[in-house]
Amino acid sequence: MNNRLYGNLIFELSKEGRRGYSLPKNRFGNYEIPTEMRRSNDAALPECDEPTVVRHYTNLSANNFGVDNGFYPLGSCTMKYNPKINEEMAALPQFQNLHPDQPAATTRGAQAIVELLERSLCALTGLAHFTFKPYAGAHGELTGLMVIDNYHRAQGNMQRKKVVVPDSAHGTNPASAAVCGLEIIEVKSGADGQVDLADLQRIVSTEGANIAAMMMTNPNTLGLFETRIPEIAKLIHDCGALMYYDGANLNPMLGVCRPGDMGFDVMHINLHKTFSTPHGGGGPGSGPVGVREGLQQFFPVVSPYHGNFAVMMRAYAYILTLGRENVRKVGPLATLNANYIKESLRDVYELPIDGLCCHEFVFDGLKNKSTGVTTMDVAKRLLDYGYHAPTIYFPLLFHESLMIEPTENESRETIDGFIDVMRRIAEEALTTPDEVKTAPHKTPIGRVDDVLAAKHPVVTFRQMKEE
Ligand SMILES: Cc1ncc(COP(=O)(O)O)c(C=O)c1O
Repeated sequence: MNNRLYGNLIFELSKEGRRGYSLPKNRFGNYEIPTEMRRSNDAALPECDEPTVVRHYTNLSANNFGVDNGFYPLGSCTMKYNPKINEEMAALPQFQNLHPDQPAATTRGAQAIVELLERSLCALTGLAHFTFKPYAGAHGELTGLMVIDNYHRAQGNMQRKKVVVPDSAHGTNPASAAVCGLEIIEVKSGADGQVDLADLQRIVSTEGANIAAMMMTNPNTLGLFETRIPEIAKLIHDCGALMYYDGANLNPMLGVCRPGDMGFDVMHINLHKTFSTPHGGGGPGSGPVGVREGLQQFFPVVSPYHGNFAVMMRAYAYILTLGRENVRKVGPLATLNANYIKESLRDVYELPIDGLCCHEFVFDGLKNKSTGVTTMDVAKRLLDYGYHAPTIYFPLLFHESLMIEPTENESRETIDGFIDVMRRIAEEALTTPDEVKTAPHKTPIGRVDDVLAAKHPVVTFRQMKEE
């Protein structure tokens, strides 16, 4: 790709008078737009010939990084391979051309997909009913918390307005609780990275009557399986509150264990993560919410119609492709891959919490801190080697968090290649640290000034032709 030749913006390639199209002759007579509704000057649009436009956009698309062109170990995001059969099914004209206002009698096939998907998710999670209206995981959290809030109101427990959230939780958990009008009580993690039971007991003993729910992610955002859920669920249920499961990390549990069996009452699933829809950059998503029997009457209306049908279609195609036997392999394989990377790199990267992880784990930067090479530098250098960077500086429990999630789909060769490069970067940190600190060197754009980009983003192009 040669961005200098083709330009970064189509406006920069514009040459007055160039055309890339020709309009057919007007066959409809002259219908004039009233003068007061017409612009006084021509719109400042780029003027380019067709090859320039095609090359510009083709080259831009080649700058994109996705699971289809490289390893994408972005912790917490479950960037798994998206089988192409899912796309074929979602693109079937019988589904793609449906209109949400069509008479119900003409959409029986789509309704059957929704029902079959609901049945599959119930079987996989141990919950009784799902709503598919939420458009993302965070939207699912909000919907689930609204279910819980509606439930307490129906019991006359108006004072139950507090939600217990672990300090390791994904940022959307406290944010969703706040949007739902609930107050957050943070429970600490212990030295083992799991919820500190003593801290939870203290919270329940003082606030028990005001607690609406406890939100938990399992495995948590450190990739650790919370082993004390039965005790936690008992404490929470005994004080009259409900258990909410953030199912964004469901991947390693698939076919191994079910949130419904662990004592969770309400949960959401990120279909776009666990059930393989291309995501990133803001969508598309689907965050169905499941509840145990008896809570379905508290589902709120959070969006019109049935939510993001194409994502549901992909999820159902994925479940059918795997089948009952293979779906059981997803969790164990994702767990094996993550542990293999962790154990292969722990001599050069700092592992703050030891032991078996699930689908992902967190390093606290390089082991040798004397070089001054940070997690940010390692992430940028990975781009030079053709890998997407892992999640960095999350969770907030460590200064130099580097969170790696390989998923179950990657081959031994791909994973070994990543391990080699991570080791090479650790070596470079010792021998040529400036090379790492100034990376990336091979991407179309080098190291950006993050603060400037965040504080003074330039998101529009100043047109040459002012109106
Ligand atoms: C643990 C956890 N909870 C919630 C979310 C939010 O999901 P979404 O990005 O679909 O809103 C994520 C997203 O990655 C997550 O990792």
